[in-house]
Amino acid sequence: MNPPATLAWQGTHLALLDQRRLPDEVTYLACRSVDDVVEAIRSLAVRGAPAIGIAAAYGMALAEQTGESSAAAAERLVAARPTAVNLAWAVDQVRAGMERGRAAIDTALEIHADDIAMCRAIGEAGRQLIEPGCHVLTHCNAGALAVSALGTATAPLYLAHADGVPFHVYVDETRPVLQGARLTAWELGIAGIDRTLICDNAAAHLMGQGAVDLVIVGTDRITANGDVVNKIGTRGLAILADYHNVPFYVACPTSTFDPVTRAGSDVPIEERSAAEILEPIGLSGDIPVKNPAFDVTPEELVTGYITDRGFSTSVAIFDSVTDSS
Ligand code: MRU
Repeated sequence: MNPPATLAWQGTHLALLDQRRLPDEVTYLACRSVDDVVEAIRSLAVRGAPAIGIAAAYGMALAEQTGESSAAAAERLVAARPTAVNLAWAVDQVRAGMERGRAAIDTALEIHADDIAMCRAIGEAGRQLIEPGCHVLTHCNAGALAVSALGTATAPLYLAHADGVPFHVYVDETRPVLQGARLTAWELGIAGIDRTLICDNAAAHLMGQGAVDLVIVGTDRITANGDVVNKIGTRGLAILADYHNVPFYVACPTSTFDPVTRAGSDVPIEERSAAEILEPIGLSGDIPVKNPAFDVTPEELVTGYITDRGFSTSVAIFDSVTDSS
């Protein structure tokens, strides 16, 4: 079985699976304006780099439909979250289409459809890494819920599972928003994939016991030098994997590669609210909090990139991508 669709264009509005309520409730938000889409992206009702790109593309279609200036809409959509490059990429695609006289909705629908094929290509590129009996560790949610189908980091898992390969996945809970516990564990469970939830800080212990054979994560941006920007905690995992000789793989579509930005240190890292950390543990606001949503994994800690162009140990796989539009 598959998890419910992350997002769907309904002719006049965008329906978004409200990921803040998962896994307890499966409800859809109806976005009828650019404001609705911006708010859904900011509040993590829709999240995951490719999914927020697709949502923003539909946001541009809503701007066209409601007569809002596309320049103003683009600016607000891109600013909704600063780290994932897919957001700007998708908005740029729609704007470039509009300049050629193409309706925004046509480009948005195309981006959405391409995304499905892209996930399958990533799955095929990584499928051979999932050997019978292996234990995979993943962080955050780079699954079907973060994209439109199969996901990125999870695509090799879904394809291997469909082929009947037996394997097991450790799912990091992913503090503070718990995308691993609430989303990845849920969607892998729906698919019938054997998975175990762990605290983020259990990964070192498990690697030390030899219980993890490989790590696969998604990413919000890969910079020109191959650095990987992904959910906070990814860098720590990569350092641990290096220490324990565990291969560390990054799965992503070409739209996540940012050839214009030199290195991870040049990427704006989103700071989120103190409430995200304090509220779930019942604390109030008088403790100073720092809550960066992402971190940077240096290229030298990446064993390989699993992409819609194939598998490579080098970021050179993206060489022909020359700009973000
Ligand atoms: O804050 P989120 O939930 O949007 O963060 C998501 C991630 O970090 C994912 O790993 C990344 O966007 C890749 S999703 C295919």
